[in-house]
Amino acid sequence: MGWTERQRAMLDEMGVRLWAPPETQTLPAPVDAPHPPAVRGDGAAVAVPRPGGGRPVGVEAMDWPALREAVVNCSACKLCQGRRQTVFGVGHPHAHWMVVGEAPGEQEDRQGEPFVGKSGQLLDNMLRAIGLTRAQAEPAQQVYIANTIKCRPPGNRNPEPEELAQCEPFLIRQVELVKPKIILAMGRFAVQSLLRSNEPIGRLRGRVHRYQGVPLIVTYHPAYLLRNLEDKSRAWDDLCLALQTLKAVDAP
Ligand code: URA
Repeated sequence: MGWTERQRAMLDEMGVRLWAPPETQTLPAPVDAPHPPAVRGDGAAVAVPRPGGGRPVGVEAMDWPALREAVVNCSACKLCQGRRQTVFGVGHPHAHWMVVGEAPGEQEDRQGEPFVGKSGQLLDNMLRAIGLTRAQAEPAQQVYIANTIKCRPPGNRNPEPEELAQCEPFLIRQVELVKPKIILAMGRFAVQSLLRSNEPIGRLRGRVHRYQGVPLIVTYHPAYLLRNLEDKSRAWDDLCLALQTLKAVDAP
């Protein structure tokens, strides 16, 4: 692959030594566009929702606007009390690639968009290194990014099983609506939710799983990679495996 200067810089930023898997040769050039404006909830002062009263019904048949509305109004668990706003997801509604993370942090809770903090910068670099973006582009290049839960856990604590369970129908429906060709599950909670597995990431990565029939690649969460630089090259391997897998899916 002929790496552009920009790609070299991004890989360098990821801490990845350069090598070129042959499978990446047909990838389009990376798109360098700014983020679209974050989609916010109503932003204004609102009454704090009471948990337990608002488990949405009929999520499995909702279209995008109904699903977004259901998330905005959800009060199925106690996380609704501490959130500034819900964080629905962002990207192409029919993206070929779907990225599933964990939960909104402080920045995401402020801006209403997943992965806009430090780990989001790394995620964007990782995506850009393989020709993908969250900014507006064709469905082959513009990813869809969602979290397993849509509200920020207080103090960025881990999501609790009950919270994951209450939020799961939203993610299931997002996957059904996007119909991605490949899913990247980033980190422990994405894996728990999508694969029902408590195995460590290190044991699940490196092979192709399936979710709703869609090939799924397990990789490290960007926040973990920021703390464990030595695993960045493994994350790069995971991205390459995802590229190869998608190429095989697309092969005539
Ligand atoms: N980490 C996640 O998993 N998701 C976000 O949106 C932000 C950080």
